[in-house]
Amino acid sequence: MGKRKKIEITELHAEDISSDGRAVGRNEGRAVFVKDMVPGDNARVRVFRKRKSYLEAELLELNEASPNRIEAKCEHFAHCGGCKWQNFEYSKLVELKDRHVRTGFQKLAHWEPEVYEDIIPAATHYRYRNKLEFTFSNRRWLSPEEIESGEDFEHRNAVGFHVAGMFDKVIDVHKCLLQGDEENAIRNGLRDFALEHKLSFYDIRENNGVMRNLIIRNNSSRDLLVIMVFGSENQKDIDQVMNYLKDSFEIHSLNYIVNLKQNDSVSDQEVIYFSGETHLIEDLLGMKFRIQPKSFFQTNQEQTSKLYQVGLDYADFKEDDILYDLYCGTGTIGLTAAKKVKKLIGVEYVEDAVEDAAENAKLNGVTNAEFYAGDLKDILNEEFVEKHGKPSVIMIDPPRAGMHKDVVEQVRLIGADRIVYISCNPSTQARDIELLKNDYNFLKSRAVDMFPQTSHIENVVLLKKK
Ligand SMILES: C[S@@+](CC[C@H](N)C(=O)[O-])C[C@H]1O[C@@H](n2cnc3c(N)ncnc32)[C@H](O)[C@@H]1O
Repeated sequence: MGKRKKIEITELHAEDISSDGRAVGRNEGRAVFVKDMVPGDNARVRVFRKRKSYLEAELLELNEASPNRIEAKCEHFAHCGGCKWQNFEYSKLVELKDRHVRTGFQKLAHWEPEVYEDIIPAATHYRYRNKLEFTFSNRRWLSPEEIESGEDFEHRNAVGFHVAGMFDKVIDVHKCLLQGDEENAIRNGLRDFALEHKLSFYDIRENNGVMRNLIIRNNSSRDLLVIMVFGSENQKDIDQVMNYLKDSFEIHSLNYIVNLKQNDSVSDQEVIYFSGETHLIEDLLGMKFRIQPKSFFQTNQEQTSKLYQVGLDYADFKEDDILYDLYCGTGTIGLTAAKKVKKLIGVEYVEDAVEDAAENAKLNGVTNAEFYAGDLKDILNEEFVEKHGKPSVIMIDPPRAGMHKDVVEQVRLIGADRIVYISCNPSTQARDIELLKNDYNFLKSRAVDMFPQTSHIENVVLLKKK
């Protein structure tokens, strides 16, 4: 049987971006997803996957480059999956992200706000991340040029990011523009140290190797918190690496984890403190927050202040308000509002985060806040509301998956006067708020860009009880 001929589209005009960072054009009514194009490009492409409602294609040749194409700044841009839109004019990217929020409400919620407020773009496009996680691997990703050269490599050790779509291949990152020179020096220094001392890099298939992951966090004063993750319990190797880090870099809080599991997640692993302080302190809207090695904290500090400010303005607090902060993490949103309201109740399922939230309340002299650990689906019920008082304002900030539908229903039954819903995924936000349509008016919506050069966008909405 002969091979089926791959279809070529000679003139594909890209006009949009997809959530996974590909450009989108249309061909005979079907969406076509293509890597390496930007909106405004016109190109010849070859279809490699055909589905009923969409096609996936690869770029063959640009017929005409988009006027909004720009040069990417990062040396790893072509292959690293991190900052997909570095080669696309930022102001245009922001326009498209804002449009996505709006079409999401039209298509998924069938409901739109009375007012769309202007998107808040990111002021800083590089070095904006206060947390990055790198992977050590003995399976360095080879560029097409390296493969073609036929060269024999002495080793394939690397430390950097996974190549998009390849769980076992890691790009050897020498300079990541998402953090500063100090963070880059730590990662590069560790690579050199491990190679010099013949310490093994993690082997994902065999689940062994000394050097496994590196997590670097910072705060706006540029204090650093480092967690080195080892894939071996050999204390001699661990001490050697940790002493190197301690003696070679100015690290505010130095810690390590031994992770012998098959997967990289360290949320269930013990953090072992090594030297310096046990945590970082971050300032946000005039409050101080403690960040422990594993605590959740929004990753773009500068934009977080703007995001929270939109939420606080929307909530329009009164002295006698009872505020529920749902999915509260370490209490950051609620605590920035606590002094304006009568009482704050936060709920979050990570117990450490709840402890942090209570500690953060103390740190800021907040005495009217209580935080509870538990899954909202189980904890938010009539009894809970009876015990803590009916909220007049509910602030909601769930993970990307959005809210469980039972939680949305409970929120509807509670019937707070105002709901401020902050989301890092406008699609699930639209899905969730549709369930509140009969009981609430949809007053405002405002997007905030927390992740420049990516397709991600954060959005805040205000609902008011009918
Ligand atoms: C996007 S974060 C927001 C954290 C916090 N509001 C902030 O701005 O830092 C979402 C939080 O929801 C928590 N979470 C996820 N699912 C949950 C659930 N079913 N019940 C309670 N909390 C949950 C996560 O642990 C995480 O801290």
